[in-house]
Formats: sequence, C-alpha cells, structure tokens
Amino acid sequence: MIMEYILRTWKDSDVQSLATHLNNKKIWDNCRDGLPFPYTEKDAIKFITYATKQPTQNEFCIEINNEAVGNIGFLRGTDVEKFNSEVGYWLSENYWNKGIMSITLKDAIRRYFQQTDIIRLYASVYEFNTASMRVLEKVGFKKTGIHHKACFKNEHFIDAHYYELLKQNFVLGDWIDIK
Ligand SMILES: CC(C)(COP(=O)(O)OP(=O)(O)OC[C@H]1O[C@@H](n2cnc3c(N)ncnc32)[C@H](O)[C@@H]1OP(=O)(O)O)[C@@H](O)C(=O)NCCC(=O)NCCS
Repeated sequence: MIMEYILRTWKDSDVQSLATHLNNKKIWDNCRDGLPFPYTEKDAIKFITYATKQPTQNEFCIEINNEAVGNIGFLRGTDVEKFNSEVGYWLSENYWNKGIMSITLKDAIRRYFQQTDIIRLYASVYEFNTASMRVLEKVGFKKTGIHHKACFKNEHFIDAHYYELLKQNFVLGDWIDIK
C-alpha cells in the first residue's frame, strides 16, 4: 500500500497532534535530553512558534492522514562550520517501518539543499538505533566514525555513530517505494 505524505511547514493547528505523537518515551530514548518528556501542548506551542519564525525553512512537518506525525529538522552550524547542518528527525510510532522516514528525509534534504547554501549534512545516532542508521544509509549518508561513550543517556554512556552527506554526493536516484 502506498502511504501518502505531505512535507510542509508547521502550523498553529498542529499543536494537539504534535503533543500526542511526540509524547512517546521510545522516541525520547533516541533523542537528546533537551527534548522535553513528557511532551505537552505547551512544548508543542513553543516548538511551532520557533519553527514558524525561521527565515529559511529548517523544520519540515510530516503530515499523514491529515495529521502532523513527524518532523525533520536541520540545525545550521556557526563560525567555520556555517556551511554544515545537523539533521534530526522523528516519526510517530504508529507509522514506523513502512519506509516513510527514508522517503521523506530524502525529500526534505532535496528541498533544504535547494533553498540554502549548505554543502554538508551530518547526523549522530545512538549505538542501538539501527532503524535510524538504516534510514541514513538508504538516503546516501556515509558513516564517518564512532565516538565511543560520547553520550550519557538514561544513566548509561553510549557510543554515537556519526554520518555525513555532502551535497555534491547527494543523488535523488529512484524514489524509494513506501511499503
Ligand atoms: C528512526 C525512525 C525515524 C525511522 O523511521 P521509519 O519510517 O520507521 O524508517 P523506515 O521505515 O524508512 O526505515 C527503517 C529501516 O530500519 C530497519 N529496521 C527497523 N528496526 C530495525 C532493527 N531493530 N534492526 C535492524 N533494522 C531495523 C527497517 O527494516 C528499515 O530498513 P529496510 O527498509 O532496509 O527494511 C523512527 O523509528 C523514529 O522516529 N524513531 C525514534 C526517533 C529517532 O530515533 N530519531 C532519530 C534519532 S538519530
């Protein structure tokens, strides 16, 4: 079955669905501690206010079945790293393992490269997050190394796997089919 998605900017009317889908410990366990948990409507309002004020779109809302169910975010570096962005993403657990992030991430990167002068993207993934590593590999990222015990999450030191994608190596290729 093909699952239709829309990649768009965040809207004030997304508050409730954002707070519902992101309030999930399984998502939080794979993200930085800066992400609030439990995730409330107040947190959702703060995020949407931030996302809608950006001069260039850097937070891409994933809409499925008329609901905001995920996000792909780009954070631009500063100083000598100002042509790099870190990418991060999450998807509602209701839609995991259907190929959605692989295709939406590729689409978001295509738009982000078109709209900005960023030449390099990178991502950091916890050692146990095989799904996220697989997504990055399917989109064309290469693993650059493992930073051992670089993160302290849920009272444990864990390894961070680093990935990069240069704009010059980004190929759209065939769209990956959503299962
Ligand atoms: C990571 C995440 C975005 C993936 O989204 P998704 O739409 O389910 O991803 P896709 O379906 O496109 O691809 C997942 C791939 O991982 C594979 N996979 C999933 N769980 C796996 C596991 N435990 N072991 C091995 N492979 C696994 C799937 O089989 C699929 O690969 P395939 O297409 O080659 O079969 C989603 O799980 C999520 O939001 N997780 C919590 C937040 C998070 O981890 N964010 C990223 C932080 S770096």
